[in-house]
Amino acid sequence: MLFNKCNSFQVLVKVHACGVNPVETYMRSGNYSRIPALPYTPGSDVAGVIESIGERVTAFKRGDRVFTSATLSGGYADYAVAEADRVFPLSDKLNFSQGAAIAIPYFTAYRALFIKGHAKAGESVLIHGASGGVGIAACQIARAYGLQVLGTAGTEEGMNIVLRNGAHQAFNHREANYLDKIKEYTKMQGINIIIEMLSNVNLAADLHLLSHAGRVMVVGSRGPIEINPRDAMNKESSIIGVTLFLETEEERRECARAVLDGIEAGWLNPVVGPEYPLQEVAKAHKDIIHSSGARGKMVLLP
Ligand SMILES: NC(=O)c1ccc[n+]([C@@H]2O[C@H](COP(=O)([O-])OP(=O)(O)OC[C@H]3O[C@@H](n4cnc5c(N)ncnc54)[C@H](OP(=O)(O)O)[C@@H]3O)[C@@H](O)[C@H]2O)c1
Repeated sequence: MLFNKCNSFQVLVKVHACGVNPVETYMRSGNYSRIPALPYTPGSDVAGVIESIGERVTAFKRGDRVFTSATLSGGYADYAVAEADRVFPLSDKLNFSQGAAIAIPYFTAYRALFIKGHAKAGESVLIHGASGGVGIAACQIARAYGLQVLGTAGTEEGMNIVLRNGAHQAFNHREANYLDKIKEYTKMQGINIIIEMLSNVNLAADLHLLSHAGRVMVVGSRGPIEINPRDAMNKESSIIGVTLFLETEEERRECARAVLDGIEAGWLNPVVGPEYPLQEVAKAHKDIIHSSGARGKMVLLP
């Protein structure tokens, strides 16, 4: 599929970097609820420079640095076409790899915390899987909005990244007794909100970590899990699914506003992890699923 020009409300972006999201591997494997029509090129989170604009686009001009939250033609490419309302200005404070680490991670984190989770300043949040793209975004946002932030990672390096990006305390989810350590840390009061990256492993235990009326935000899951519904009854807790794909235009505008404000204010600073040349995308897809420890957002460089 060759895209080299755009229609009236679209822009053509010269891709300098593209974020890799786990969902792109699920889609490629064919085991996902949304299977795109073929031919298909993955990649939503492009950062680059506007090459050309459709005749009705007024917000951008050729040469502008931008990032996207979706593309029409796929971001794993040298050029990508996007609807202009999925394109945002990329601040000079951030490089292209950081630009490719913004949209899906930060929009998802914001959606989970506020649009679906109704988090409030002063509440506690556990980001269960805080060392990857969405987790670091959630740490930075939650800290900036005045929450008490706990995060988990599977390595020492990951825990340090989590601590440097807004968490008040970090725990290692590969340690046998880490759940006891979290309970001890919260003095048994329980956590108001859990942003869960691996629900098929953690959901049952999460219900024991919650406070009264706490909520688990199911952001990531790779299979089924058995839970005891009574654990939710006992605390009147909620299990809430999050799907960025279902956001409304109004919600997208709210997320974008918060993200652009965060960049301007300086607290939003994406952490880039492993970078791969575009030719090594197959390795990138293997590595993100069989990770030995995340340390920020994985990015492809064309
Ligand atoms: N619902 C949505 O709309 C939406 C949007 C974006 C992403 N997601 C999903 O959210 C998840 C995270 O995405 P991402 O982009 O942040 O992926 P990522 O960059 O690959 O990060 C994965 C995270 O999961 C952590 N993890 C690994 N084992 C864990 C365990 N036993 N308990 C808790 N966390 C564990 C990893 O920690 P270590 O590597 O340090 O062990 C890492 O922090 C994925 O499943 C993705 O598909 C959902």
